Amino acid sequence: MKKHIAALVVLWIISVTISLWWNLHVEKNNQAIIAMEGSRAFFKQVVLTRTWNAEHGGVYVRITDQVKPNPYLKMPSRDVETNTSIKLTTINPAFMTRQIAEIAARTTGVQFHITSLKPIRPQNKADSWEHTALNSFENGKKFFGNFVSNASGETAYRYMAPLFVEQGCLKCHAIQGYKLGDIRGGISVTLPFSRKTTNWQLWLTHIIALLVVTVILIFFGGKLETNRIKIIATNRALEESMGRLKKTQSKLVQSEKMAGIGTLVAGVAHEINNPINFVNSCSQSLEVRVQELKAFTYELMGEEPDQEILKMFEEKFTPIFKNLSTIFDGSQRIKTIVTELRTFSRLDEAEKKRVKVLEGLKSTITLTNTQYRDQVEFVYDFQADQELECWPAQLNQVFMNMIVNACQAIISKQKQTGDKTPGKLTVSTQLQDQSLAVRFHDTGCGIPKEIQSKLFEPFFTTKDVGEGTGMGLSISFGIIEKHQGKITFESTEGEGTTFTILLPLHLEDT
Ligand code: HEC
Ligand SMILES: Nc1ncnc2c1ncn2[C@@H]1O[C@H](COP(=O)(O)OP(=O)(O)O)[C@@H](O)[C@H]1O
Ligand SMILES: [Mg+2]
Repeated sequence: MKKHIAALVVLWIISVTISLWWNLHVEKNNQAIIAMEGSRAFFKQVVLTRTWNAEHGGVYVRITDQVKPNPYLKMPSRDVETNTSIKLTTINPAFMTRQIAEIAARTTGVQFHITSLKPIRPQNKADSWEHTALNSFENGKKFFGNFVSNASGETAYRYMAPLFVEQGCLKCHAIQGYKLGDIRGGISVTLPFSRKTTNWQLWLTHIIALLVVTVILIFFGGKLETNRIKIIATNRALEESMGRLKKTQSKLVQSEKMAGIGTLVAGVAHEINNPINFVNSCSQSLEVRVQELKAFTYELMGEEPDQEILKMFEEKFTPIFKNLSTIFDGSQRIKTIVTELRTFSRLDEAEKKRVKVLEGLKSTITLTNTQYRDQVEFVYDFQADQELECWPAQLNQVFMNMIVNACQAIISKQKQTGDKTPGKLTVSTQLQDQSLAVRFHDTGCGIPKEIQSKLFEPFFTTKDVGEGTGMGLSISFGIIEKHQGKITFESTEGEGTTFTILLPLHLEDT
């Protein structure tokens, strides 16, 4: 844009310069035309009087001190005397021209000079300028004219045209061998003409035009530029808020989904909770009862029981105990799931406290890492230990899930590759603009691109039954959201995963 304006300004400067140059040129030409026309008028005037003179074959004039007979004019009765004793002499056109020239030079400053390449009268010899002009007439030029200046710097226009031999001329010039239409010579006219070398009106108008338009261009160009910048900025802001809207929307969809599932799960968990508790405790007490029954039966058989019967009883009781223990294990598993479901759906039950999160993180690690000591090397890099307003038990649950997931990912990779060297889990904390960042970086199996979008969905798991419920991340998501934080991850399949939890130091009231 700036470039465009600069280009326009340059273009304008060039146009104005060309216009000025052209106008000055035209002006100069006009001056030449005016000067030429003026000189030509004088010339024609003189030629007219000369023609009149020639047609009379010269004109008789009184002889005075100024007017003496022309020694170059050789003709019979050149000088005559009237019967009243007045002495007269014949004035030929050239002589007359010289006399008029004298008067003209005296009164108007215009100079005439009659000349020829072959002058009869030596004083009529052509000067170098006239010589050039006369030569050009021989070559067919009609007239010759240009500006000249003398030593004192005065300028004049000098004009010359040929004098052709007419009928009247032959009376005197036929002797020299001239025929009709020949060029006899010429008269040069020198017209004083002060040329305007600086035309200030032209300069002024052009400079004003230049300045005004340039200023306008720069001013409006600048305005355009600022407008353009504004538009770009607005566009960018629009794009940004568009992006934010999209993100918020997907987040909304996500949390909406969570909330819906949350209520559903809460209901289901509540309904299942009691029956499973019955089953669980009943299976336990049933085992005790059967144990008692078994003992009672053995007692009934007396001091020395029949080995056959004893063996039969034993065979009857063993599957019962087996079944009971299966029932107990199963119900236990259901109880765990129900508890997790309840935690997931009843996030706001625990108390909000202001504590150092790092302590909780450390104890969670201590509780968890014993289980994975052989397969996983734990590395710590705790750079921040801020106090946060939080629900500590819930955060611990999140940390626990992160650690277990990471360890399971590492083990899964070991199983896939057969390489049993321990993987690495790096847990770190950092202060990151008013937030505490907790990172879990593992060298595990990574997360395939195709399932990355489903990770936070409840019940989404890639693990075998008993190993994972698929609830960990969805519960964690809810807990972190409740802390007005963020949970994100980056993962490369086969190389590892980093989960980052951002927890703001101060909670905003909601
Ligand atoms: C009456 C005789 C006479 C006539 C007519 C006459 N001339 Fe001349 N002209 C002369 C004489 C004499 C001179 C030389 C002395 C002088 O400068 O007066 C001369 C000089 C000139 C000169 C100056 C150059 C030179 O030779 O010294 C020119 C040019 C010229 N005449 C042109 C003409 C033309 C053109 C006509 C016709 C329109 C014409 N004359 C008619 C007598 C005449
Ligand atoms: N650190 C990790 N590395 C690789 N995969 C992971 C990691 N954490 C989570 N996952 C994937 O996300 C799924 C969901 O995790 P989660 O919600 O905790 O459920 P669960 O652990 O019970 O499967 C896991 O099954 C696993 O596929
Ligand atoms: Mg998990």
